[in-house]
Amino acid sequence: MAYTVPKLKDFSPAALDKAVEKLLAAIGDESDAVRNDADKKAFRDRWLARKDGILTQVNDLWLKPAPKEAKREVGQRVNKLKAEVEAKVEAALAQKPSAAAESAIDISLPGIRRPIGAEHPIIRTQNDIVGVFKNLGYSVAEGPVIETDYYNFEALNFPPNHPARDTQDTLFLANQESKSRREQLLLRTHTSPVQIRTMEKMKPPIRIVIPGKVHRNDPPDASHSPMFHQIEGLAVDTNITFGDLKGTLDHAMKALFGSDVKTSFRPSFFPFTEPSAEMFVSCFICGGSGKRGSDPCRPCKQTGWIEILGCGMVDPSVFEFVKGNGYEPEKISGFAFGMGVDRIAMLKYGLDDLQLFFQGDVRFLEQFG
Ligand code: DAH
Repeated sequence: MAYTVPKLKDFSPAALDKAVEKLLAAIGDESDAVRNDADKKAFRDRWLARKDGILTQVNDLWLKPAPKEAKREVGQRVNKLKAEVEAKVEAALAQKPSAAAESAIDISLPGIRRPIGAEHPIIRTQNDIVGVFKNLGYSVAEGPVIETDYYNFEALNFPPNHPARDTQDTLFLANQESKSRREQLLLRTHTSPVQIRTMEKMKPPIRIVIPGKVHRNDPPDASHSPMFHQIEGLAVDTNITFGDLKGTLDHAMKALFGSDVKTSFRPSFFPFTEPSAEMFVSCFICGGSGKRGSDPCRPCKQTGWIEILGCGMVDPSVFEFVKGNGYEPEKISGFAFGMGVDRIAMLKYGLDDLQLFFQGDVRFLEQFG
């Protein structure tokens, strides 16, 4: 039972002694129980608060009602008691946390982790792919997302009005009529222009990968977005062959999707490579069978193969644009490739809607934490 200040009927010295003794016993017990800062404050308030603290009650219940003849005696005792209570409270406030209180805080527990967000699944996939090529000795290059017609098309052997441009319709910046065509600015449609930009700056041999955002005039749907991500690769040296291209990409696909996957190269066309190919990997979802149990495998459209990238041997006419920097088409050769990161991320995480990546829904993104 918590101590309460009794009303006094008897104001004799003996009765006062008893009452004081009880009060001191109570404050002793209560001060022993003080453990932490919150206890300290409660303890101080209970005993010393002006309004209704125990000392105030002692004043009201013991001193004020004391009969005239006992006033002096009671007054002296109450004053002494006040000094003792104040000393006790002061001592309790000054006290360090007790051993028991200290052991109540387990300092070996891990702290509260503040969420700092998660790597976006596209960036994570991009880093995984770049990491595979870094291990092969490739460096990373980057270039502007707002690009000139020259780098995006012309120097990659898409002449003005060439039909191959139609496959990469993009957004041009407005009000550029006064500029020559090669200087006109557009949102780059692929990361390939950074091939040219890098070759202008670095002499051969080079081995680079180029991650980045690209844009096309495609309305958004489950598999298209006006903005998406690519990783480009370029290796130029003396005597680079199509065998090097195949070996490098086959190794990279095994590192990314597992050592069981196979690669298949099929003829294709890109203005800046000759010969050109599309590379497929055997479907790492159905193992190449085209079926999942008795159901058709959707990601590979039942073919057992998934198209991953475009590639080829650098067309000598591309080297013509950077010839002055040591890229003489008669002396060197190279291969290039370009892949879509977003699609690879969708396959990797088993998603069927590309838009999920760009809607910023925290419930989706948190799953990659
Ligand atoms: N730039 C091409 C595209 O966006 C992809 C590509 C194909 C890149 C072949 C290459 C390559 O470097 O050699 O469709």
